Amino acid sequence: MDKTQNIKETPTSLMDEEPILEIKDLKKAFGNNHVLNGFSLNLFKGENLVIMGKSGSGKSVMIKCLVGLIQPDSGSIKVMGKAITTLNRTDLDELRTEIGFLFQGSALYDSMTVRENLEFPLRRHKSRFKNITDTTPLVMEALESVGLVNAINLMPSELSGGMKRRIALARTLILKPKIILYDEPTSGLDPITSKEIIALMRKIQKKYNTSSLIITHDVDCARVVSERIVLLVNGINYAEGTYKELAASKDQNVRAFFK
Ligand SMILES: Nc1ncnc2c1ncn2[C@@H]1O[C@H](COP(=O)(O)OP(=O)(O)O)[C@@H](O)[C@H]1O
Ligand SMILES: [Mg+2]
Repeated sequence: MDKTQNIKETPTSLMDEEPILEIKDLKKAFGNNHVLNGFSLNLFKGENLVIMGKSGSGKSVMIKCLVGLIQPDSGSIKVMGKAITTLNRTDLDELRTEIGFLFQGSALYDSMTVRENLEFPLRRHKSRFKNITDTTPLVMEALESVGLVNAINLMPSELSGGMKRRIALARTLILKPKIILYDEPTSGLDPITSKEIIALMRKIQKKYNTSSLIITHDVDCARVVSERIVLLVNGINYAEGTYKELAASKDQNVRAFFK
């Protein structure tokens, strides 16, 4: 089978540009479970790219390969022109500060206040922030961006689900990443809170000029938040295009996502 048969050409408006993130032929198996079978995609500067795939299709595995939490079996990942498999520990750590990762769920540290949660990445990446003695302005700016300045001294247990998601996003923003990876940012939230988070993702894209990969199975989220969508089916980039293009597809596997 020709793996690229359904893949749209890169939009002409983006063709001259170097992708900020380039995944080529990524493969990952766990024993006999072949999860990624040559997955490829390009993320361009300033775009929100949504990845849809059914549960267990390997979306989280793919995103974990990008941040080095899972080692792929083969394939290449280039971030801002650098192949991450060729970097030494220090350079990889440095590059990682450019990539914000919002985990599935919010994964705040329950024993730390909101402020301490936000300060954590600053302490982890000391080398980049060694000249900063007062973290307050950075913490306040990040909280401001998600509209939760007043939550600074609260514990995670005092926050609603939507607030936790916002704080987790603020913790990602504090490093001013160029790329943000969102793993199911609206899962488990009620429809109104989901809409708020989606609006916030758009706001952050504009304010910080970030490029994002957004994993979701929420069709509404995909429609509102994305410039382009990639469908992960059978471990490959099965189809890609705008919401409009994919929603108009006659391919059975593509149609399944838009019912
Ligand atoms: N660390 C792991 N060890 C073994 N199998 C894993 C691991 N992580 C994920 N898997 C398997 O990989 C497949 C894809 O998982 P995942 O990427 O989490 O799916 P989703 O698309 O729902 O995010 C599943 O079959 C899952 O059981
Ligand atoms: Mg997942």
